[in-house]
Amino acid sequence: MILNASGCLDALEAPEVARALDVFVTKTVTPQPREGNRPVRIAETEAGMLNSIGLENPGIDALLADKLPRLAELGVPLWVSVGGFAASDYAELCAALDDRPEVTAIELNLSCPNVEEAPESASDIVTAARPQTRKTLYAKLSPAATDLEETARAVQSAGADGLTLVNTMRGLALDERTLQPRLGRETGGYSGPGLKPIALAAVFQCYRATGMPIVGIGGISTGRDVLDFLASGASSIALGTILFADPDAPGRVRRELAEELASHGLSSAEAATGLAHSSGPVIVA
Ligand SMILES: Cc1cc2nc3c(=O)[nH]c(=O)nc-3n(C[C@H](O)[C@H](O)[C@H](O)COP(=O)(O)O)c2cc1C
Repeated sequence: MILNASGCLDALEAPEVARALDVFVTKTVTPQPREGNRPVRIAETEAGMLNSIGLENPGIDALLADKLPRLAELGVPLWVSVGGFAASDYAELCAALDDRPEVTAIELNLSCPNVEEAPESASDIVTAARPQTRKTLYAKLSPAATDLEETARAVQSAGADGLTLVNTMRGLALDERTLQPRLGRETGGYSGPGLKPIALAAVFQCYRATGMPIVGIGGISTGRDVLDFLASGASSIALGTILFADPDAPGRVRRELAEELASHGLSSAEAATGLAHSSGPVIVA
């Protein structure tokens, strides 16, 4: 499955891009509306980009009343990304989405470098969210976690159904002339090609540690990138930064992946998942 990475596509502005995906993932929604961080909020770097959007969003009530019905008209399965500043925020958001038929799955954004994070651990948040919804729950983790495998196992035990790996990593870019930070918030989340090896390692380690379904994200721009993520253990992938430069990426990457699979004698994307693991995933009971 090809998804968009949360926050990297406005499906109502570009419905034809969203329809080229297997799933559309919303930008992270919080309980209350948020204006986000002060400008400048995007900076290009030598490779990839920095953003400090800061979870700008209309809040859950506006999403439910206005955006969700319009997104459902696209005819693409919808995942809603939720974020908050306490485990109770995530629980409240999951409860609010639980009986909405438009929503296929909920992604818990446990990892935004551009806002203060909930003080609870990732597994505490999943523990709070899990009983509030019957929907499929994905936990989106940061590649900067000190022990990512341990975190992955903990969210699995807490009831997550899958992992989304990875979110951005904190980065800094300076103005050439003034040597001042280019982003209004100084540091931001780094995304793009340089994230790929880091994301691949996260997918590889977490697949081995948990065997869970994984959405691989990080610097994907070609079919070959997708094949690398599948072989490392991803069952799906999401396109992020590439969508800003190439809105046709979903169709192109899909065609390139088909060629890559054929050239490796693989019958399907499923057949490629986990191939980099000679010993297969180690499932921890
Ligand atoms: C402008 C921008 C906004 C983003 N907003 C969100 C967000 O709201 N929620 C989230 O979980 N991730 C957000 N992300 C992170 C992406 O979903 C993705 O994890 C990251 O960009 C790495 O993938 P890429 O290298 O393919 O871009 C954002 C990224 C960018 C560039």
